[in-house]
Amino acid sequence: MKRIAVLTSGGDAPGMNAAIRAVVRAASYYNIEVYGVERGYMGLIEGDLHMMSRRNVSDTIQRGGTILRTARCPEFNTYEGRKKAAESLANRNIEGLVVIGGDGSFRGANDFYNDFGVKTVGIPGTIDNDLGYTDRTIGFDTAVNTALNAINNLRDTMSSHERVVIVQVMGRHSGQIALHAGLAGGAEVILVPEHTVDFDDVASVLNRGTAVGKTSGIVVLAEGACPLEEAMTEIKTRTGLSLRSTVLGYIQRGGSPTMADRVLASKLGIRAVQLLKENKGGVVVGSKGDDVIEMPIAEALAVKPAFDEALYEQAKMLSL
Ligand code: ADP
Ligand code: F6P
Repeated sequence: MKRIAVLTSGGDAPGMNAAIRAVVRAASYYNIEVYGVERGYMGLIEGDLHMMSRRNVSDTIQRGGTILRTARCPEFNTYEGRKKAAESLANRNIEGLVVIGGDGSFRGANDFYNDFGVKTVGIPGTIDNDLGYTDRTIGFDTAVNTALNAINNLRDTMSSHERVVIVQVMGRHSGQIALHAGLAGGAEVILVPEHTVDFDDVASVLNRGTAVGKTSGIVVLAEGACPLEEAMTEIKTRTGLSLRSTVLGYIQRGGSPTMADRVLASKLGIRAVQLLKENKGGVVVGSKGDDVIEMPIAEALAVKPAFDEALYEQAKMLSL
């Protein structure tokens, strides 16, 4: 393969730039030309792509966001939209496409491969860590550490004022960010979509905390577990505690990627290019322990995201 393209799609995640950089530089290493596509599948449909060199990715490994920008593109869900995108590539003799994104972006990459034979390779980039086939997605570690810093700050002020705070974190339908940030932040309670929220139970934990001398508390609420307003009302009614709330929101999506995310992005970017060099497509790369793995996209999407039940129980064991 002599010419490939790379794009970022769906929600951005810290480390996407490190992945783009790895793709561009690995391609250059193997004498493969690489095009950057602006705004994900949207730029592909509109033909908004440009050649990239090693220098175009200088000074980017430490930056959050994505230098190629990203978008959600409903038109790519249609056959006609994907046909236009395939023409953009064919017009430039581009044979392979690296897609950095989440499960939606991977579905698009799979359709693109099946419909037009475009060799696609997916790199998992999302803060949610909600792709079951890979231990980690790029951006998760940074997002958890961002949430953790916020929890540390909240603990200071909650402790001074003897208050309890409900801190809402992202993750869509996944409780992974909540679980890891909650455990690492010493949260009294962690609420995740993988478990039905039982407010009697929450109140009993917080009241027990008060009984054993705790004067402040942190409740980490995954956005997919239940609405924040409901949690505020139900906990206030049952405990009478001085209660506050904070929504972390998009703060978790930005920021300089951690070492773990930069290393993961670099390894996966290189492997993606190697697969295209071997003329493979319709696959994703990921991580299992320290190993880089690959598998067909459809197979990867069929793996249910696993929730670490043991870690969830351990967090409870240590919370009071
Ligand atoms: P993420 O990749 O982070 O999960 P989305 O679910 O928003 O983000 O998907 C990103 C983009 O991928 C969508 O805007 C669309 O262009 C494309 N996409 C999502 N699902 C499909 C699908 N079933 N078929 C084709 N393209 C899809
Ligand atoms: O998938 C990443 C994510 O940040 C989720 O955690 C969150 O639910 C969603 O994207 C927010 O999406 P949007 O950028 O469309 O508001």
